[in-house]
Amino acid sequence: MRLRGKRALVTGAARGIGEGIAERFLEEGASVVLLDRSETELKAALSRLETRSPGRVAIEVCDLADEAGLERAAHCAFVRFGCIDILTNNAGIAYREAFLSIPSAHWNAVFDINVRATFRLGQLAASRMIAQGSGGSIVNMSSKNGLAASSWLAHYNASKAAVILLTESMAVELAVHGIRVNAVAPGFVDTPLDRKLRAESSLPAYSSRTPMKRGGTVEEIANVFLFLASDEASYVTGSTLRVDGGHLANGSEL
Ligand SMILES: NC(=O)c1ccc[n+]([C@@H]2O[C@H](COP(=O)([O-])OP(=O)(O)OC[C@H]3O[C@@H](n4cnc5c(N)ncnc54)[C@H](O)[C@@H]3O)[C@@H](O)[C@H]2O)c1
Repeated sequence: MRLRGKRALVTGAARGIGEGIAERFLEEGASVVLLDRSETELKAALSRLETRSPGRVAIEVCDLADEAGLERAAHCAFVRFGCIDILTNNAGIAYREAFLSIPSAHWNAVFDINVRATFRLGQLAASRMIAQGSGGSIVNMSSKNGLAASSWLAHYNASKAAVILLTESMAVELAVHGIRVNAVAPGFVDTPLDRKLRAESSLPAYSSRTPMKRGGTVEEIANVFLFLASDEASYVTGSTLRVDGGHLANGSEL
């Protein structure tokens, strides 16, 4: 049990990678608050997860675009199991559209969820961890798109690059408090978000440049979050771990 007794908050946990992270954390003994904007999907995830982890899983309905709502939800989540040891900023959104056509509303929405909510929840969780005096681990969701651009995703690419530098900045300032901060940069992963984006442009499940010749699974991404959240990563902070089947390593391939 690698997270026995730990209390975690996972955002965007009603489905996709977030639900997978919550499931792995629960399997390893943590108590987990699932935060998402969709109450219906959250309740469905809760009923899937709580049968195997009774009493260790709770939900918090919150639209992370609403800063006052985010603050209320964070407070409730932090006290739900007494305190907070792990924050996973996983929730994210994307639109596929040409740079020249991006409306400001989409730019702002992508930055509100992918960057501002990550910053604000990170700030609130770190303050709480410092007050508790027991340190903690924060794991932020970036993407391969935060390290190399894809067309039609300028706002998403820029937001995920911002997450990497935010992660490094937080790691530098929070290490003195025993708080580690890391990011994960997945490649192609089969989830509702991924399927929606691919369907809009008839894209394949993974790029032919991916040396492993397949997309990643939710479980493969969740395992990396588990490692970074756990004490096994006790000397890892400020890192961004690529989990992309070698895709970015193959940057010069024709
Ligand atoms: N799927 C991939 O291929 C892939 C690759 C790299 C990075 N990522 C990142 O992984 C994260 C999860 O992606 P996914 O593929 O599981 O997506 P998904 O759409 O399946 O799940 C995202 C979850 O975030 C929630 N969410 C979105 N906006 C929210 C808001 N305003 N407030 C609260 N919750 C909100 C959604 O309701 C959903 O449950 C995202 O940050 C995404 O950018 C995904």
